[in-house]
Amino acid sequence: MKIEESCVARRRFLCRMLGGGTAALGAGAAVPLIQYAGNFRPDPPPAFMEIEAKDFELPPGKARMLLYGRIPVLLIRTESGAGELKVFVATCTHLSCTVRYAEESRQIACACHGGYFDLEGKVISGPPPRPLQQFHQKMKDGKLIIALEQANLDKAS
Ligand code: FES
Repeated sequence: MKIEESCVARRRFLCRMLGGGTAALGAGAAVPLIQYAGNFRPDPPPAFMEIEAKDFELPPGKARMLLYGRIPVLLIRTESGAGELKVFVATCTHLSCTVRYAEESRQIACACHGGYFDLEGKVISGPPPRPLQQFHQKMKDGKLIIALEQANLDKAS
C-alpha cells in the first residue's frame, strides 16, 4: 500500500468514526427531547367529576380551587340567600391566567392584566373578551357532580 492510499484510508476511517459518533449523540439527545415534548400533549378532561362534601362545603363568601383533569376549577359559596354554589373554569378568557376569588370585593379577579368578573362570570372590567365558563352541576348521593357538557352530566349516574 502506498503512503497516499494509506492516508486516504485513515481519513475515511476517521470520518466514519466521527459521523457515527455524531449520529449516536443525536439519537441519544432526540429520545429525551421527544419524550419531553410529549408531556405537552393535553390530556382530555374527564367527562364529569364527583366532588366529596368535604371539598365543596364552604362557608358563605368562601372559595376553593380544585382540578378537573388539568383544568383549574373555582368553587365559590355566595353570601346571598342560602349561599349558592358557583363552579367556574378558573381560566381567564383573556390570556388564560388562573383567576381567583377576591373575598373583599366579592368578585373574581385575574391578576395578570386586571380583569374582573362578577359571580355570574360576566366581565366587569379589564381586557377579558368573554365571560368565565361555568360548569354544569348537580347533587347526587351527597356528592357534587360537575361537567363541562350537560350531556356528560346527564350520563353521570
Ligand atoms: S389573562 Fe386575565 S386579564 Fe389578561
